[in-house]
Amino acid sequence: KVTPEFTRNLPKAELHVHIEGTLTPELRFKLAKRNGIDTGYSSIDEMKKMYNYNSLSSFLDVYYAAMDVLQTEQDFYDLAMAYLHRAVKNNVRHVEIFFDPQAHTTRGIKFSTVINGLYRATVDARALNIDARLIMCFLRDLPRDSAQQTLNEALKYKDKIIGIGLDSDEHNNPPMKFYNQFTTASANGFHLTAHADPDQKDSIEHIRQLLEIICVDRVDHGTNIVEDPDLVELAAKRKIGFTSCPLSNTFLNADMKGKEVLELLNKGVKISIHSDDPAYFGGYIADNYYAIAQKYNLTKEQIVTLACNSFEASWISEEQKALYL
Ligand code: ADE
Ligand code: ZN
Repeated sequence: KVTPEFTRNLPKAELHVHIEGTLTPELRFKLAKRNGIDTGYSSIDEMKKMYNYNSLSSFLDVYYAAMDVLQTEQDFYDLAMAYLHRAVKNNVRHVEIFFDPQAHTTRGIKFSTVINGLYRATVDARALNIDARLIMCFLRDLPRDSAQQTLNEALKYKDKIIGIGLDSDEHNNPPMKFYNQFTTASANGFHLTAHADPDQKDSIEHIRQLLEIICVDRVDHGTNIVEDPDLVELAAKRKIGFTSCPLSNTFLNADMKGKEVLELLNKGVKISIHSDDPAYFGGYIADNYYAIAQKYNLTKEQIVTLACNSFEASWISEEQKALYL
């Protein structure tokens, strides 16, 4: 039987975690104090009452508002370091962390402040025996020009960023909006991934663009690909990684999407389990594994396959993969 200890002790790769989504109310409160920012709340408990959401857009409102407290390089360092300690406790051996520079540059924070703080934490975390990399995401609800400017900044930090992702509000913001930016990023050696949230009305079309035209390495969420067997076959053949987040799905989609995960697993798709925004969805990666194992009666063998998939879909070298698998 799968126990919480089993899911915690299993070596894992975390491929879908937004660093801003690891900002706990406790750290938010502490940083507000340190930076002399008025959050409008007199206590952590009062702040927590606002953590109410049942859709992507209602979640994003709370998520972006919370980030105001992130001001200095040290704030970004502390945020990432706090997360990395949690990841180590979850036996995460390798993590590819999303960050959203535009959520900060649009508030007047410099790109260099964000990347230098986060990157320094990934370097210091090597002493904790965890390999951490950074994936820069474009906010898909902002104009293409803003993504291009952000990409121009990222090109100056090529050695500190492993790949490019796409997140935020998907409605009317298809992947093809950023075709030129993805193409430039790929030509510059960045790996590519993008969110395709379950329950978007154009989801299949968005996944098709990602697999057939943009040629991403991974799709974040994307589990409703099961509606299109030809795309599923293509994804299996090309070994495209799919990163599903059970607790996030439970909050935002009122469905854990375990049926879809099992179907993709059975069809040989490289699907794995992740945490999305753990400070907002009530659990870190081991909790996500345990939640789906409980609800859908997964065997230990299925859990191990999901964890192996997480390493196989990661962007570490083949030699490094061989150490984990
Ligand atoms: N940004 C942070 N979490 C996200 C999610 N689940 N979907 C889209 N954008 C996000
Ligand atoms: Zn996400």
